[in-house]
Amino acid sequence: MTEQCAVVPAAARPAPVVLGSWPTPLERAPRLAAAVGLADDALWVKRDDLSGLGGGGNKVRKLQYTCAQALAAGATTLITSGAPQSNHARLTAAAAARLGLRSVLVLQGEEPEVPAGNLVLDLLADARLVWTGPATAEQTRREVERQADKVRQDGGIPHVIPHGGSNSYAAQGYVDCSGELLAQLPGLDHVIVAFGSGATMAGLVAGLGAERVIGIDTGAVADPWARLSELLDGMPDVRVRRADLQLDHGQIGAGYAAVTAAAREAMRLAARTEGIFLDPTYTARALAGLIARVADGRIKREDRTVFLHTGGLPGLFGHPDFRA
Ligand SMILES: Cc1ncc(COP(=O)(O)O)c(C=O)c1O
Repeated sequence: MTEQCAVVPAAARPAPVVLGSWPTPLERAPRLAAAVGLADDALWVKRDDLSGLGGGGNKVRKLQYTCAQALAAGATTLITSGAPQSNHARLTAAAAARLGLRSVLVLQGEEPEVPAGNLVLDLLADARLVWTGPATAEQTRREVERQADKVRQDGGIPHVIPHGGSNSYAAQGYVDCSGELLAQLPGLDHVIVAFGSGATMAGLVAGLGAERVIGIDTGAVADPWARLSELLDGMPDVRVRRADLQLDHGQIGAGYAAVTAAAREAMRLAARTEGIFLDPTYTARALAGLIARVADGRIKREDRTVFLHTGGLPGLFGHPDFRA
């Protein structure tokens, strides 16, 4: 992922555009709770995988803010970048379709012979896919700029949405989610969330306080602490002691693209106890992190614990290591 992260000035903060269905459900998960060692009534799943647009997922809440900026700027084309199986890219394509805009997705890698997973959905939504081959964050950023110039040359107005959809303004989407959670479960003790480009966790920290939010690092960015700090610094009226932030690096394994044994086990457990499917890159790592924390006592048996299901299931069908 790119290491740049825009801090958005106040003047560029229009009201969000509604793209999803809110509030998302908060469901009890008694069988999963028992399987991981929590009391039956101590675990809830926040179903942001059911957020409505384009197969759902956490990126919808962030896109409500970044797309509002695009509309305010009179954009004709949304441009973003990501890994080939980027859920953010898929949802950017879906948001563009919903808003009557075009989309260009700059994907880091080689074009596969047969599109699978998110790529099928990108193409169904009529996104134009641009493949970079092996590319650094900087090379990807330059390709995004080239595509923006191309849109301009063709008479359009491009709007670039950051890699992963994260900036300090997009993070407001998860301040909104915090409000939903506080209404649905006022006494919650912990929320567990996958950390990729960071705005989901940043918004939750802003809305719920650092001591209630546990981010499980997926290895997507090189310096997640710096990323989180930068996002929080860019949010208005957020005061967080850096020492209170909880970011867990225990589930990265061999790296972002690898499926760890703990993630595979978490996918099986969620499917077999609650009929809930997870993706191997984000949500399975997050549940594996929750399980590890219950096992070592950092999450206590009776703690009211929310697992944030951030979506991403299409990625399972595009993953090179796709198997049960
Ligand atoms: C399914 C899923 N969950 C969680 C995340 C992490 O969200 P964020 O990038 O805001 O940290 C992502 C990001 O790509 C995602 O696709």
